[in-house]
Amino acid sequence: MAERPTRVVLVGFMGSGKTSVGRALARKLGYRFEDMDRRIEERTGRTIADIFRDDGEEAFREMEREEAQALASLPRRVVATGGGAFTRPATRALLQEGALTVWLRCDLERILARVSADGSRPLAANRGIMPALLAEREPSYRMADVAVDASAGAPREVADRIVGLLEGRKPKRTSARR
Ligand code: S3P
Repeated sequence: MAERPTRVVLVGFMGSGKTSVGRALARKLGYRFEDMDRRIEERTGRTIADIFRDDGEEAFREMEREEAQALASLPRRVVATGGGAFTRPATRALLQEGALTVWLRCDLERILARVSADGSRPLAANRGIMPALLAEREPSYRMADVAVDASAGAPREVADRIVGLLEGRKPKRTSARR
C-alpha cells in the first residue's frame, strides 16, 4: 500500500455518516477513531445542545478550533468532524495539516431522512434551513482533498471506498484539492 497519511479527516454535512464511516474506516486502517463533537462534550462535561443554548454558536466554533489544534499533533487517527467545522478557515487549516481530508458527499433527501429533529443537533431543529445551509457549506466541503459518495451503501462500504482511494493515492501528496 502507498504511504498513508497519518490522519484521515472526514468532513461533510450532518447525517452524511462521518461517525459511522469513521469508526469502520479506523478499524480497517488500525487507526484510532476521534469524534470532535464527543471530545468537546467530554472535555466540557456538557452536551452540544447545552453549549449552543448557553454559550451560543460562536463559542462552540472556538471549541472546535481548539479540538482541531489538539488533533493536529495526534498520529494514526481517523477524525469525524462536526458538520460546521470545515467551514471555518482557521479550523479547516488545522484539520488539513498532515491529513487526507475526505468529503462524505450525501444528497439532501438522505440527510433529512437520517437527521432527526430531536434537538440533539441544534442546527437541525429547524429543518427548513437545511437546504440553504447545505448549499452555503458545499464550497467549503469541496476544499477537501477527495470526495466520496456517501448517499448509498453501508458505512463499511463507504469506508472501503476511502481505503481504495488511499491505496491509489500517490505518496507524499499533501496539498488540498482546490
Ligand atoms: C453541526 C453539526 C453537528 C455538531 C453541531 C453543529 C453543524 O455535528 O457539530 O450540532 O454546524 O452542522 P454532526 O455533523 O456530527 O451532526
